[in-house]
Amino acid sequence: MDAIRILGGVPLTGEIVIGGAKNAALPLMACTLLTDKPLTLINMPELVDISTMSNLLRQHGARIDQSALAPGAGGEAGATGRSMTMTSERITSITAPYDLVRRMRASVLVLGPLLARMGEAKVSLPGGCAIGTRPVDLHLKALEALGAKIDVKGGYIHATAPGGLKGANVVFPKVTVGGTENLLMAASLAKGDTVLENAAREPEIGNLAECLNAMGAKISGIGSGTLKITGVPLLHGARVAVIPDRIETGTYAIAGAITRGDVVLKGTRFDLLESVFSAMRQAGVTVEPVEGGVRVAAENGLVGVDVMTEPFPGFPTDMQAQWMALMATANGASMITETIFENRFMHVPELTRFGADVNVHGASAIIRGRKALSGAPVMATDLRASSSLILAGLAAEGETLVNRIYHLDRGYERLEEKLGACGARIERIGGG
Ligand code: UD1
Repeated sequence: MDAIRILGGVPLTGEIVIGGAKNAALPLMACTLLTDKPLTLINMPELVDISTMSNLLRQHGARIDQSALAPGAGGEAGATGRSMTMTSERITSITAPYDLVRRMRASVLVLGPLLARMGEAKVSLPGGCAIGTRPVDLHLKALEALGAKIDVKGGYIHATAPGGLKGANVVFPKVTVGGTENLLMAASLAKGDTVLENAAREPEIGNLAECLNAMGAKISGIGSGTLKITGVPLLHGARVAVIPDRIETGTYAIAGAITRGDVVLKGTRFDLLESVFSAMRQAGVTVEPVEGGVRVAAENGLVGVDVMTEPFPGFPTDMQAQWMALMATANGASMITETIFENRFMHVPELTRFGADVNVHGASAIIRGRKALSGAPVMATDLRASSSLILAGLAAEGETLVNRIYHLDRGYERLEEKLGACGARIERIGGG
């Protein structure tokens, strides 16, 4: 199994190109199941999760062609990435099997589209996950409100709607990104109007709604917590750009800050991550929009800043572990409160191996900053936790070995290359 070896303590300087957002690309890919016409996505990241989704869509009958794009052709300034054209002329299977769904929870995003187009879908339950129980009950309740009949049996969700789905008023009791996405896709092909209240407002939802509209859907209220969808009988093909990855942006912004370096993140947008940038500024980091991206620079003397994770536009849970690494190097104490997922402090025991001083009390963690972290062998537990260990390793004195890095490859494209180009001493090594 591969590991990443880092010799820390080098301030990063230079440019890092940010790719297309994994969490936007996955639901956009699921949209192919809604139409028999070609759907082309540009600025696609190259990640293990994208290959997993491609495999799932292929076994539903999608044909997928990929090609490289010249730099700058991705739609956003400086963006690179591939284009992917998917055509699902015929759905050959309505079943999303356990073996594929268990690899990636976002596989459940095929449920809404398959049900809307075919009147039936069988999707394996995603099951538990390292960062909490993460149920899909809200997806199912909302689809039931649209007239679906749902049976959960033998580990599979079996959803049927023989007469088609019908528009309805749906109020989510809790903000759910995946639930909002499944419903947006399903309601686009339902009969009549659907109103989704307390919908997620993440930028990835906006990207999905714009894509559906480009395919002929009628969605209004984009960017707000109330989405109105007027169902249409058929959707057609479209060509859509994936938005920049705000979590990759934030992770490299913290890489610049934690090493007290000066980096320019290209092909991304300041407005995608204002909550994190504002906390970074409070901590003493320079963060400024520049042409085609964002510049991040820091010197010693950062101060602790408290954050609480919240749905967008609040501080993202997917940046919580990285923020903790930064706070471990700031002066004074700070508190992080996690309100989205239970059990999302699994990086804490690993961060303490660098000498970080962190105490967890229920959903909150108190971090007391240290003058210096020291390199250590550590183990990655989940995707974003893994990136916090890389960040701590970049800041720490001496050698760090991050084991079990397959989590990182799910969400970060060419991480060693991007950091290495800014001066980081980082390499991937094969090992136990
Ligand atoms: C998405 C992101 C993930 C991010 C999360 C929160 C993708 C592929 N993944 O995950 O990176 O961390 O949003 O920003 O986009 N919940 C229920 N019942 C449900 C659905 C959710 O109780 O049916 C709960 C979850 O357990 C969690 C909260 O609602 O506590 C938010 O989850 P949700 O927004 O649905 O996250 P995902 O869409 O799975």
